[in-house]
Amino acid sequence: MTTGKRQRIGVLTSGGDAPGLNAVIRAVVKAASGLGWEVFGIEYGFEGLLGDRSYRILTNADVQGLLPRGGTILSTTNKGHFGPRNVALSSDEDPYNLGVRAIRELGLSGLITIGGEGTQRIALELYKLGAPVIGVPKTIDNDLAGTDRTFGFDTALQVATDAIDRLHTTAASHNRVMVLEVMGRHTGWIALHSGLAGGTDAILIPEIPFNIETVATKIRQREQYGSTFSIVVVAEGARPMGGTEMYIADGRLGGVGHWVGEHIQRLTGKDTRVVVLGHLQRGGSPSPYDRLLSTRYGAAAVTALSRGISGEMVALRAEEIITVPLAEACGHLKTVRPHSDLVLCARALGVFFGDEVVSP
Ligand code: F6P
Repeated sequence: MTTGKRQRIGVLTSGGDAPGLNAVIRAVVKAASGLGWEVFGIEYGFEGLLGDRSYRILTNADVQGLLPRGGTILSTTNKGHFGPRNVALSSDEDPYNLGVRAIRELGLSGLITIGGEGTQRIALELYKLGAPVIGVPKTIDNDLAGTDRTFGFDTALQVATDAIDRLHTTAASHNRVMVLEVMGRHTGWIALHSGLAGGTDAILIPEIPFNIETVATKIRQREQYGSTFSIVVVAEGARPMGGTEMYIADGRLGGVGHWVGEHIQRLTGKDTRVVVLGHLQRGGSPSPYDRLLSTRYGAAAVTALSRGISGEMVALRAEEIITVPLAEACGHLKTVRPHSDLVLCARALGVFFGDEVVSP
């Protein structure tokens, strides 16, 4: 039996929310309490380490009922003070130095950082400054490198697939084209997976720039072969060949769904409707798969800290949870390979991506 001070770790959620955040927090608290450790929940992402510091002790009682709950009980911050490191700042102005100081002064022997690429980049900087950190990979976009899966993706996929199923019946009733815009800033994982799972006719993703004339021609050809309606799923970051991503006001991505819909209507003459799924993909209860993955990640992060591991991220590789250097998750995204088996599978089924050679 040890008589020393009780070990204390911190956990925070940062960046856009995703279903499963609370499930990770729950697993962290339960696994830590099993080791006799205390857990501080840092609020508002890394921002909670700054200023007056915002945190609270989390006990097993605090995480009761959290497994199915969407959102994050710790709140999250998307873009706070932790931008790219500005080495010109004095140590008292530098959020990274202040963060490391807070971790030390709060007596945290480890900090679990739950988030996407931006979050893990901040965690890596803190680690380089001496803070003991372990990352947990989150994002509905599934674009974090170093892991096969991020939690949140499966739930978003379920929501997007359900939307496609619903659009199918109304599209068929009215003989319309339905365009569904899904999330995916830089990558088309949600669009590709939901497009295949929902049986869409076209999948437009950032990794494969599309020609809108080709998309329209394919829809017209479907009509000639007797298909009187079509479903198109488009990732928010998709772009026409030679063009750029589309933004709505204040620099936020969006608008490609409406752009595609308007052009299809004009080029095919078919009645077309557009649905933007937006944050419905991020809200609500995590799927069983995401609950399980989040739980495994949370427990594995605590285990890693208990083994003295730091500067790493828990990750899923071939169904096993391992840890990988944080650097592996930072600096680049996991994108859809245009010649991957999933893309080839879709093409084999006649699904079009808008890059095909067509005769009008
Ligand atoms: O988490 C990634 C993501 O879902 C992107 O696909 C999307 O562009 C972004 O978050 C939107 O986030 P917010 O509305 O919080 O800025």
